[in-house]
Formats: sequence, C-alpha cells, structure tokens
Amino acid sequence: MTAFAVAPGGPLTGRLSVPGDKSISHRVLMLAALADGTSEVTGLSDGDDVAHTLSIVEALGAGVELRDGLVSITGGSLGAVDGPLYVGNSGTGIRLLAGMLAGLSFTSVLDGDESIRRRPMDRVVDPLRAMGADISGVDGSTLAPLTIDGGGLHGTEYVSPMASAQVKGCVLFAGLSADGPTTVVESQPTRAHTEELMAAFGIDVKAGQGGVTVQPGRPVPFSHRVAGDPSQAAYWAVAAAVVAGSEVVVENVYSGPVRTGFVDVLARMGADIEHDADTGDLTVRASSLTGTVVEAAEVPGLVDEVPVLAVAAACADGETRFCGVGELRVKETDRLATTSSELGAMGARVRVEGDDLVVVGGPFHGAEVESHGDHRIAMACAVAALVADGPTVVSGWEAVDTSYPVFGHDLEGLRA
Ligand code: S3P
Repeated sequence: MTAFAVAPGGPLTGRLSVPGDKSISHRVLMLAALADGTSEVTGLSDGDDVAHTLSIVEALGAGVELRDGLVSITGGSLGAVDGPLYVGNSGTGIRLLAGMLAGLSFTSVLDGDESIRRRPMDRVVDPLRAMGADISGVDGSTLAPLTIDGGGLHGTEYVSPMASAQVKGCVLFAGLSADGPTTVVESQPTRAHTEELMAAFGIDVKAGQGGVTVQPGRPVPFSHRVAGDPSQAAYWAVAAAVVAGSEVVVENVYSGPVRTGFVDVLARMGADIEHDADTGDLTVRASSLTGTVVEAAEVPGLVDEVPVLAVAAACADGETRFCGVGELRVKETDRLATTSSELGAMGARVRVEGDDLVVVGGPFHGAEVESHGDHRIAMACAVAALVADGPTVVSGWEAVDTSYPVFGHDLEGLRA
C-alpha cells in the first residue's frame, strides 16, 4: 500500500488538463470493437479502469495499436476467450460489457476485484434476462463473477427502477444485438454518453420523453477525441474554490447533459466558477462558500462528485444537505460511510440521516486517513488536506490509479 503526504497550503494557480472522460472512454472502446473496421481515439482515460476494458476488447479479438496518445481499434469480429475477462475495479466496465456480451453468440465470464464482487449486479442481470439473455452470477445471480451465454436477445421496453446510466448503457448495448427495438425508460435522466456516442457513430438511437430507443445494428468506424473528465475536474474546482488566492483553469472539460451538476452546486454556494460550453474550459477562483441543499433530482448529475462536494461543504458557512444519495452505498466503497469516516477523521462534521448526507462547515485538521481502495475518497481527502491545520497522510493512495494516476503530480504543478 502506498501513502501520499499532503501539506496544507497554496495557492493553486495555472492551467491543466485532466484525464479523458472515463465513462466516454469505456463506451468508445466497446463501440469501436463492434464496428467493422478501424476506429481512432485520442484523449482516452489513462486510468486502470479503462485499461482493463481496452485489454478485454483486445482479448475478444479487436486489433489494438497505441502510438503517441492515439489508440486505433479494429473491430468487427469478436469471439470467445478462455477464462474470465477481468474488469479490475470498474463497475461501469462490468455492467456495460455484460450488455455487449449478452448480445454476442459465445460464452463469456466477467469478473473483477474484491470491490466489484461486492457490488450489485442484479440491476443488469434482471433487464438482460428480460431480453432473453442466459446470464448468471453468484448469490442468486446478484453478484459477480457473471457467466454470459450470449445471443438470442429480444427487443424490450425496460423501465429502470433506479437512476443509473450504467443500467441504461447495459440495456442499450444489448439492444444493438436484439431482434427488434429496445427502449429504456428512466425515472430520472442520467448521463447521456451511450446514446450520444451511438448516434454519433451511425446507430439509429432516439431519446425523447418516452425513453431512449435503440434499433439493432453496428456502429460505423469512427474518429473520436475524448473530452476531459468532469469528475476529475471537480477536484480542482473545489480545491481552487477553497484554497485562498487560487485561480485554476481546467481545459476541455465535457459539458454535456447530466454530468456537470457540481458546477451549478458550487456556483450556488458562492464559488467564482465558469464553464465555457464552447471550449470546455472550467475556470475557478477562490471565494467564500455558503451551505446549500442538493436536491435528489440533482444527484444523477453529480453522483461521483459527492465526496469532494462534501469537502466544499465542510469549508462553507452553515449546513449542506445532499438529499437522496443512497446510491453512494453501492459505489467502489459505501461512500456515505467512507466520506463520513475519513472527512470525520479530519475533523469535519459529517452525518448520514436516512439517505441524506449532511455536512456542517468547520475547520479541517491534518490526520491519517485511508482511501479504503476508493479513488474518489483518496482524492477528496487530498483536497481537504490543502486547507487543514497540519499535514495529512492518505494511505491506500494507489487507488487513484483507477481514474487519475497523475493526480499527485498535477497537484504539485498547481502549487509550483
Ligand atoms: C457511470 C455511471 C454512474 C457513475 C459511474 C459511471 C457511467 O453510475 O457513478 O462512475 O459511466 O455510466 P450509475 O449509473 O450506477 O449511477
């Protein structure tokens, strides 16, 4: 286990870019693997999660070439692999791949690390079975590893019981190989990457009031530049907002639907923050913050940003309530528990009330904290450490490799 020591202080100044969007990266690799021909991708996330998906599409038979930040993927004829396909820590990887593989006429096994083996898979097993998939897991098919005997899917209308872009994406990927149209109806809109990218790459997919409907088909080969990941930009946005004298520009951050809720929440708290929709540049300057209420309807648009927004809330005047964030219990860790325990160890007043997370403003103390193997907890603690009254050590720091291997390097660059 590695530890990362963070001394308090700033200011943070300068421009930087963050890794390519993780959600987009997974989807682009899978669509390229399904396309008959060679697709070219730049700006792919350099984290381990996406590296696992890349290895999986390669193992399934896609040709992969990497040179100078350009990834070429030649897809079109995928086939069975001996032994399990390993997604590492990636919930998005396993759930989206389950949908894709359910449609392909061979047998696959999907597995991941300890955290993946604890996370609920019935949310994708149920809709795939409703489409006729032969898929099973352990513990009543609620958990990975998942065994998928692919092919023979029927188009369906699936009313998703939860606001989850992973579930929507899984069903739409399966729909590409079904015998008719497949519709996903969502109770609340979630990030739109699957339908946006499918439409851009030649799939007949339509989103409207009644849900998202995909027709069976295959994407055409494409070129795509992956935009910067808003979830990673959020660490610098909060850090720049709370560390006195800071001014940071994060370049080329994705600005599409249901992804940048953290920008609205920070603005509402009084942050000096602008997101230029044309360039994607996100500019944040330090300012004083006030507590707010984050409504349940906002949560799908900032679901991964709650731990770092909790840091902003602890630096604000008054109380902040994140309503209806129960889904955080089934992320890489139970993030209601890990946000409370780790920020709590640094002196923050964080409590869980039912499905709400409540944070009351107050000072951070330097402390020894633990990532619990969760990249977002590690990085949120590092941001809190910048405004603590003494040094902080984050153990289990290697978790950041999941999504942002050079976070520490970028932090030092902004403090130079
Ligand atoms: C993701 C969707 C979200 C998010 C995850 C990435 C995606 O999960 O937490 O990090 O790429 O579809 P849910 O859809 O389960 O909320």
